[in-house]
Amino acid sequence: MNGNIIIKNSPQLVTCSGFKAKQGSAMSDLHVIDDGAVVIENGIITAVGITGEVLRKFNEESYMTIDATGKAVLPGFIDSHTHFVFGGYRAEEFSWRLDGEDYMEIMKRGGGIASTVNSTREASREELLESGKKRLDSMLSFGVTTVEGKSGYGLDETTEIKQLEAMVELDKLHPMDIVRTFLGAHAVPEDFQGREDKFIDYMANDVIPRIANRGLAEFCDIFCEKSVFSVEQSKRLLLKAKELGFKLKIHADEIVPLGGTELAAELGAVSADHLLHASDKGITDLATKGVVATLLPGTAFSLKELYARGRYVIDQGCAVALATDFNPGSCFTESIPLIFVLATLYMGITIEEAVTALTINGAAAIDRADKTGSIDVGKAGDVIILEFPSYKYIPYHIGVSCVEKVVKNGNLVFDKENQINS
Ligand code: NIG
Ligand code: FE
Repeated sequence: MNGNIIIKNSPQLVTCSGFKAKQGSAMSDLHVIDDGAVVIENGIITAVGITGEVLRKFNEESYMTIDATGKAVLPGFIDSHTHFVFGGYRAEEFSWRLDGEDYMEIMKRGGGIASTVNSTREASREELLESGKKRLDSMLSFGVTTVEGKSGYGLDETTEIKQLEAMVELDKLHPMDIVRTFLGAHAVPEDFQGREDKFIDYMANDVIPRIANRGLAEFCDIFCEKSVFSVEQSKRLLLKAKELGFKLKIHADEIVPLGGTELAAELGAVSADHLLHASDKGITDLATKGVVATLLPGTAFSLKELYARGRYVIDQGCAVALATDFNPGSCFTESIPLIFVLATLYMGITIEEAVTALTINGAAAIDRADKTGSIDVGKAGDVIILEFPSYKYIPYHIGVSCVEKVVKNGNLVFDKENQINS
């Protein structure tokens, strides 16, 4: 059921207006309306403007009304890169890393992603649904209204499908919109060690066509990384996926510079993600081709790596999205305020740019900029109301969520004041 709602009297209605990714300097313009109101009918935004002018045209009595006096209103956040469906946890790995062990070394000795693969293969559908629902509830409380979720903890057909089907089910059960990505080439499974090309053949020729036939994922992604999949292997897999109608994403240049960023531009990917070691040329290529640069500061923070060059990437004219990379290993957090403050303190990204990166550009990173990510007439009624009068409180209240209410498709689905949660 999609709702009818009027939100009025906001001292700062941050519309982030636009229907496509904002590149470079355009990321700074948030299109703020002082004393703003928004009307949502049947789940879709039908009016946005100054409260007095909007209310003249609508009969408030036919709507649920929220008085946002003293509260900033923004589009719902888009978390455009997560791995939120998985079995088991890796708390011990965090301790090993604190003791100085390296993320990739842990992975090479069968820990890391391989450990989550074992637990996800063992997990029942019900277990994935139960943990998935709790994680979505938590994301919603941070103001996220659309999330991208990747498979990639199966590395075999059955488990990859189990993860994607769990997301199909969760999308129906939960107010959150879920965009699905197939990441079957996330690591080399034990039985294919040393036979990476054979694994790519298996994924490209057997698994991807079945995922495509069943419409289980919209995007295809790969971990293009030294000791995982080479640029050539990534290209082979992604070209096959593209031929079958998938849109593309790449985990690119996360741990070492390899050339995944250039590949994302060459293949016309929708986004290139991580980019900690992206080359100058790779970044220019993304800007030229309009590929969204998705930066994940939580991962650099958690792995104690140098942050991606956020300021430089924007200055080169790229559209930057920010996301959590929520996963059980390299970045176990769904905290949007943490991502926000890291981006502003350590990547040279301004507060305005970070808002754009988590709204309209996040939507563009999952090819949804025409449907959500801004407060514009015709878009989904996905809106958040903060406890404070300005978006500037988001990083200032370090790591703590300022989101008081979340409206999804015109329905109030989270309310800190009245303890409503989906
Ligand atoms: O984006 N780098 C590859 N994939 C994830 C981590 C997955 C994991 O550690 O479980 C990432 O960082
Ligand atoms: Fe990731």
